[in-house]
Amino acid sequence: MTDSFKPLRKAVFPVAGLGTRLLPATKTMPKEMLTVIDRPLIQYAVDEAREAGIEQLVFVTGRGKSSLVDYFDVSFELESTMRKKGKSLEALELSRADFGELISVRQQQPLGLGHAVWCARHVVGDEPFAVLLPDDLMAGTPGALAQMVEAYNRVGGNIVCAEEVAREKTGSYGIVTPGATNGNLTEVRGMVEKPAPDVAPSRLGVIGRYILQPEVMSVLDQQEPGAGGEIQLTDAMAKLIGQQPFHAVKVDAVRHDCGDKTGYVLATLALALERDDLAPTVREFLASR
Ligand code: G1P
Repeated sequence: MTDSFKPLRKAVFPVAGLGTRLLPATKTMPKEMLTVIDRPLIQYAVDEAREAGIEQLVFVTGRGKSSLVDYFDVSFELESTMRKKGKSLEALELSRADFGELISVRQQQPLGLGHAVWCARHVVGDEPFAVLLPDDLMAGTPGALAQMVEAYNRVGGNIVCAEEVAREKTGSYGIVTPGATNGNLTEVRGMVEKPAPDVAPSRLGVIGRYILQPEVMSVLDQQEPGAGGEIQLTDAMAKLIGQQPFHAVKVDAVRHDCGDKTGYVLATLALALERDDLAPTVREFLASR
């Protein structure tokens, strides 16, 4: 652990993306509001962050994304009506942010993930912070970020969540040049955004969870566009390698890429099969097919 170790209290949720892969569903609704079973994707990511000890939620939103902030507000009409009818408020309480827990900033132009994270720099200040991409629904107990925090408390520095991806899919991920591996931690020697399979340094792909030191914001101040013409978080992170500890961690959780139609369907099925109230019927239906 480094001398400058500070506990992790803040999490940035880049939620300004247009969700073009899921049109027309996402035409008027943020993709992070798509529902898996009975809660929107953003709720899963926020629950995971809270479980990991996060106290400050920072949403980087864009135009048409206000419903994400509204969702975590108090719903006065609903609450008073339900209270009068004697109905449980449990489901509503889950989605309510505490006073001052949620801050939102705007990414005014879609300039890339690195740019989105940089838009949160004034809220992050000089503290380490997590980044959660809500498209990646991580199903695990404890949650993926809590597992990463456990690793962070051991080694400090910067930590990306990673898993082996298919060789033909390297062009969809940030890919790590791996160093020494110790248990679930692999030293990161290099990182490249969306390399073609023939030039990818490994199959170790970064998935949507990060714990980063605030210095990445200074790098992002100067970051030029990279892959896809976008300001890439991967490029900025890569510049910190060698200056700060940098690890990839494999967590014990299943990743569902809900920005993709198949991933979204599988997430719904997988989570339904985990629930006592739904599993028997779903299992019966699947068997009958
Ligand atoms: C982003 C990151 C990429 C990472 C991926 C994980 O890409 O740029 O490095 O591997 O998330 O989901 P995106 O999926 O937004 O294109």
